[in-house]
Amino acid sequence: MALLHRFSCCSSPSSPPVISLTKSTSKSILFPISHLPRHRRFPQRFPSFRLTATLAAESPAGSVSGGGGGQPKLLLEVKDLTAVIAESGQKILNGVNLSIYEGEIHAIMGKNGSGKSTFAKVLVGHKDYEVTGGSVVFKGENLLEMEPEDRSLAGLFLSFQSPVEIPGVSNSDFLQMAYNARRRKLGLPELDPLQFYGYIMPKLEMVNIKADFLNRNVNEGFSGGEKKRNEILQLAVLGAELAILDEIDSGLDVDALRDVSKAVNALMTPTNSVLMITHYRQLLEFIKPTYIHIMDEGKISKTGDISIANILEKEGYKAMSTS
Ligand SMILES: Nc1ncnc2c1ncn2[C@@H]1O[C@H](COP(=O)(O)OP(=O)(O)O)[C@@H](O)[C@H]1O
Ligand SMILES: [Mg+2]
Repeated sequence: MALLHRFSCCSSPSSPPVISLTKSTSKSILFPISHLPRHRRFPQRFPSFRLTATLAAESPAGSVSGGGGGQPKLLLEVKDLTAVIAESGQKILNGVNLSIYEGEIHAIMGKNGSGKSTFAKVLVGHKDYEVTGGSVVFKGENLLEMEPEDRSLAGLFLSFQSPVEIPGVSNSDFLQMAYNARRRKLGLPELDPLQFYGYIMPKLEMVNIKADFLNRNVNEGFSGGEKKRNEILQLAVLGAELAILDEIDSGLDVDALRDVSKAVNALMTPTNSVLMITHYRQLLEFIKPTYIHIMDEGKISKTGDISIANILEKEGYKAMSTS
């Protein structure tokens, strides 16, 4: 899950669980989970007032066709990116090239094992992978030189294919800490629990999640679909210039797929972008991509429009290698 780039949680039977809060200085602060505020318990029924707070990274739903009349800006530029599995040295990415402009929605499709999730994880700086060549520029900065936490604070969000559970940490504490970390980064004052409550309530509605989910430990005991909704809740709370959604549709029934897609579309603005990884055309009906890419053996082998997905659905990936 995205927030793990900022807060990594660990526990062992002999020691109390701790949260590692890594600051942009790359120094880590460790503190026991028991030190987390325990007073934030969200009631089942909400008071009628709402406080509003917005992030610069977020803006109301808008057109996705370029920002403010000017030329859309290049948000992400990946050139000849190669990467290996850190432990084994096995090469997975074999020269990925991809440019994403503000306001665009890109979809990556591709056979199982072609490197889609690896690409997503390499972008956010996952420790399992080592970049061996190429470049990645995000908002004009060398992404590969940034710590994972800083990538996240800079506006890169990854919704993991398999979101992890964090025992002992409530969703509300987790989200509030992450959101306040982002506000600090943006030079905005932190929200206190009441203000945060006012901020998050509309987000819950947006993703169609019940408020009692906030009191539950992060993803613990959540069904597959609930985990995916929770990922989108995190995205809605944090805002992101580039949201990478890795198989956000897997395990969702059609209603959940509709809710999640609606929320993602509502979060689109002329200045942010989405990179979604999917196997299924149905998601592309709900979140319409500007471009579809096919990943094959660790590189993007084909780029096109929705017609690629139509061919795939009819003929499978074989058709991609011959056309
Ligand atoms: N941490 C890892 N350890 C070992 N093998 C890995 C790891 N991450 C990815 N792989 C392998 O790399 C290949 C690409 O995986 P992945 O990027 O998850 O593919 P996709 O998302 O396209 O299905 C697969 O063969 C997978 O088993
Ligand atoms: Mg995958």
